[in-house]
Amino acid sequence: MTAPKKLFIKTYGCQMNVYDSERMAEALGGEGYVETKVAEEADMILLNTCHIREKAAEKVYSELGRLKPLKTVNPDLKIGVAGCVAQAEGEEIMRRQPAVDLVVGPQSYHRLPQMEARLRQGEKALDTDFPPEDKFEEMRARPKARRAPSAFLTVQEGCDKFCAFCVVPYTRGAEVSRPVTRVLDEARDLVARGVREITLLGQNVNAYHGLGPDGVEQSLAQLIWALNDIDGLERIRFTTSHPNDMQDDLIEAHRDCPKLMPYLHLPVQSGSDRILKRMNRSHTAESYLRLIERIRAARPDILLSGDFIVGFPEETEADFQATLDLIESVNYGYAYSFKYSTRPGTPAAERAQVDPEEADARLQRIQALITQQQQNIQKEMVGRDVRVLVEKKGRFDGQMVGKSEYLHAVHIDGCTAAIGDILPVRITEAKRNSLAAIQRT
Ligand code: 5AD
Ligand code: SF4
Repeated sequence: MTAPKKLFIKTYGCQMNVYDSERMAEALGGEGYVETKVAEEADMILLNTCHIREKAAEKVYSELGRLKPLKTVNPDLKIGVAGCVAQAEGEEIMRRQPAVDLVVGPQSYHRLPQMEARLRQGEKALDTDFPPEDKFEEMRARPKARRAPSAFLTVQEGCDKFCAFCVVPYTRGAEVSRPVTRVLDEARDLVARGVREITLLGQNVNAYHGLGPDGVEQSLAQLIWALNDIDGLERIRFTTSHPNDMQDDLIEAHRDCPKLMPYLHLPVQSGSDRILKRMNRSHTAESYLRLIERIRAARPDILLSGDFIVGFPEETEADFQATLDLIESVNYGYAYSFKYSTRPGTPAAERAQVDPEEADARLQRIQALITQQQQNIQKEMVGRDVRVLVEKKGRFDGQMVGKSEYLHAVHIDGCTAAIGDILPVRITEAKRNSLAAIQRT
């Protein structure tokens, strides 16, 4: 018997890349690869890349430069680049770094087994197509390994919104929803493998409109209600949503659906209507705030999170102040803020850029405000009773770590529960990035 070949995957970026990396590992698992956490012992290294911000491509090239010498140690080592940088750069990657054997875009990784076979023939392989076949369907024959209690499940991919700063519509392509039955089959399969919480993923997940078994399209809320009926599945989440696609049935699901968790990531990007217009967001700060009101009326304890871009072209101090005001009015449990980063080929790339030092200063100011809100909300949790999905052992003996309904990381000392249990606890302390709790009996 030959020893299994080893696969090392490094994942950058969003949760969808985490999901894609798992699928790529499964696809190559069928070709005899087992995963390793040590790049030095790998026969295949895949970088699953992100192109959303910053010098993403440059980071990938420098990582490739670091990995290249491993080929002298193991002449059979193959190096591949997957994900959105692969899609955006294509052949250029192999030109700039000849050590790269394989380039595969996010819509074609189901073809990895065929590509790998070509590598073994000494060829290189490049595929950045948007193929007509359904990559998820092509990948159904998977090993039935036990899974961690919380899993991602991609239900929708791509985006038709074309925000002026964003590469996603170009790298992930047009918006596509997976049919309901396929999502439910995958969810049941995950539950059979030990999963108790599923986070539905999509770049625009609340625009989901997958075909139902009767040939009629279903909304994300309808899909969530169908998932709610799966025995053994205890928690449902979804991300990332767009304010304009937040339909009434989804807001109602937050009120009525027992397994849907009280957490919503709803990026607004800016609090200035002038900038929102220039971003092509097609909503206003006011319409966003009204929406938040309706969501909170349906589910008063919901924890909200958001994304913000500072230093978007032409952003003035007054525009930035409007963003801070919006943050003050919403009170986010979590928020992510990014300095605008020029993405070649997107409309905003051509516009007058904000002075980088000014953008840095705004980033610091927004982050200070967000951190303060996050910490206040965490402090308000002290004394409250929540239920924690136990995910792993903690750093200390007898300590377990998991997530509350609100997605707060919670440490439980002297915990008798097992991984996968959902445990009633009382929050005793708010730490910097997590909460401490005691088990309730
Ligand atoms: N520059 C900075 N941030 C960006 N994002 C998307 N594109 C850019 C860009 N060009 C942010 C948005 C989005 C999040 C995933 O990344 O806030 O919601
Ligand atoms: Fe990008 Fe999201 Fe805008 Fe789509 S909705 S273009 S993914 S920021």
